[in-house]
Amino acid sequence: MLCFILLGILVFTVLAFIVTNNGSGHSVAGLRYKEYQLRDYSSWFLKQLNNTHNWKHLKNCLVKSKDCKNLPKKYKTLKEYKMAELTPIEAGCCRPPSECGYPAINASYYDLSFHPISPNNDCKLYKNSGTIKCYNCDSCKAGVAQYMKTEWRVVAIFNVVLFVVLSMIYFVGCCARRNAARNSSKV
Ligand SMILES: *[C@@H]1O[C@H](CO)[C@@H](O)[C@H](O)[C@H]1NC(C)=O
Ligand SMILES: *[C@@H]1O[C@H](CO)[C@@H](O)[C@H](O)[C@H]1NC(C)=O
Ligand SMILES: *[C@@H]1O[C@H](CO)[C@@H](O)[C@H](O)[C@H]1NC(C)=O
Repeated sequence: MLCFILLGILVFTVLAFIVTNNGSGHSVAGLRYKEYQLRDYSSWFLKQLNNTHNWKHLKNCLVKSKDCKNLPKKYKTLKEYKMAELTPIEAGCCRPPSECGYPAINASYYDLSFHPISPNNDCKLYKNSGTIKCYNCDSCKAGVAQYMKTEWRVVAIFNVVLFVVLSMIYFVGCCARRNAARNSSKV
């Protein structure tokens, strides 16, 4: 029984490490946080996130979670906002990717009259409206992928610890039983 639990934990942990293996963000000059790109993540992960049906649910959740709505409260001035260390979800979902070049007016408003040089479709998808923002952008999906990646890592590390502890219990129990058997056969 314990053996099956150990095996299950091991398989899950290995899977978690494979799924979350790569994609670690791109540094942008002048920003203190990283930007994330969808193509950096494993293809299985991408398929789940880029599935319109799945994304609709996740997006509703993101809009409700008010991460973006709280940005102007957290960063009152443009200067504070530019110095901010945004989370992957904030960086991907609440603002257009920097390659679009839209000038920021404040934490919730970008000047979209600027004509973006980048062909990135995210530049067309971004709107200042609170319910649209960049929630449909690939950058937002990548932000969510990055968030999940760190969450999964925590679970995976927890699993490794659990695996070691359970293995120890298993072997101690096993040796104790063998010793007991040997002792009783001697008598
Ligand atoms: C992620 O992994 C895929 C294949 O497993 C690889 O093609 C891609 O270059 C990797 N990306 C990064 C950023 O390492
Ligand atoms: C996501 O899906 C759309 C079609 O629904 C496709 O055009 C796009 O290339 C996909 N993006 C990635 C990164 O797989
Ligand atoms: C941000 O700027 C826009 C346009 O100037 C303005 O309408 C909006 O009220 C500002 N938002 C905040 C939170 O200051």
